[in-house]
Amino acid sequence: MNSKTIIIGGAGFIGSHLVDLYLENGGRVWVYDNFSTGNRDFLPEHPNLNIVEGDILDTELLTSVIDDCKPDNVFHLAAIHFIPACEKDPAHAIRINIEGTQSVLSACKNKVDRVIFASTGAIYDPEITTALSEDSNISTKDIYGLTKLTGEGLIEYHARKGFSQAIVARLFNAVGRRETNPHLIPAIMEQLVNGSRHIQLGNLYPKRDYIHVEDIAGALYSLGNMSMEHPMGTFNVGSGKEYSVGELVELCAEVIKEYVKIESVPERRRKYDRPNQLADISHIHEKCGWQPKRNLRQALDEIWQKECKAILL
Ligand SMILES: NC(=O)c1ccc[n+]([C@@H]2O[C@H](COP(=O)([O-])OP(=O)(O)OC[C@H]3O[C@@H](n4cnc5c(N)ncnc54)[C@H](O)[C@@H]3O)[C@@H](O)[C@H]2O)c1
Repeated sequence: MNSKTIIIGGAGFIGSHLVDLYLENGGRVWVYDNFSTGNRDFLPEHPNLNIVEGDILDTELLTSVIDDCKPDNVFHLAAIHFIPACEKDPAHAIRINIEGTQSVLSACKNKVDRVIFASTGAIYDPEITTALSEDSNISTKDIYGLTKLTGEGLIEYHARKGFSQAIVARLFNAVGRRETNPHLIPAIMEQLVNGSRHIQLGNLYPKRDYIHVEDIAGALYSLGNMSMEHPMGTFNVGSGKEYSVGELVELCAEVIKEYVKIESVPERRRKYDRPNQLADISHIHEKCGWQPKRNLRQALDEIWQKECKAILL
């Protein structure tokens, strides 16, 4: 395989695992990233990897990279992704997530076969408690979701105009090594690494669909390679299983082989937390045969063995 792929946001949590997968399969990869949350250490030294430091708002630089590389696929993963950061500075989130997406699409226009955009399972109506399919109602309650929904609209417009094929991948909760944002699992692991076995968290009831980050990379890779009957497709990428915060902490306790107590403290509680968020993944399975190969326990074990223990040594 001698594909050429640009991964925008490729130095981040999910992007860096996608880089690994393309390189393992003999592809040539260009990472375009401003390293705001991404990390150069996540990327290997490899003859088939080129790294360009740049911002997605810099359409001129992005265009020149696309002109040089002439990629088959462009993955657009760059975003302000941490919900509290989006709420704190909505103007910045709107600029990066919406204007930035338009800038990526302008640079790609009529030059690439396919653009794959990382959206989120968080845009589905939080009142729905059953498994969410791509046709489920959409209702976003925060700035992050609004920016992703607008991004989806821009991607759809791009495909409808015939500028390239386009795929929206609605990702659920990624778990694994190289997490960059202070989500729930880093908050748990940080307390465990600090020696606490009585950990403090926010709401304990919400259930989420956690998916191993390497399975997300595998799904994105499959979406990049699938044959498409229509210029536009939308796919959930989750595990199809959900866990409450309590169940998650029980798995962490199994991994570290110690008893762990949890307490919900008011300062960590979100005012609003959707009760659950479960992906129906039958569409991606039908269209490209993808299904998750790993589980949550395995992801937690890898974080503990390969990242947390290194800090403890
Ligand atoms: N991690 C998850 O659970 C999850 C769930 C749903 C959707 N997503 C989406 O998947 C994508 C990747 O998420 P992630 O968890 O890897 O986040 P991340 O923050 O680790 O990755 C984002 C990458 O984009 C880069 N970036 C940010 N702003 C940029 C800019 N203006 N110009 C150039 N590069 C920029 C960052 O440096 C980073 O390397 C995001 O779009 C996110 O919204 C992630």
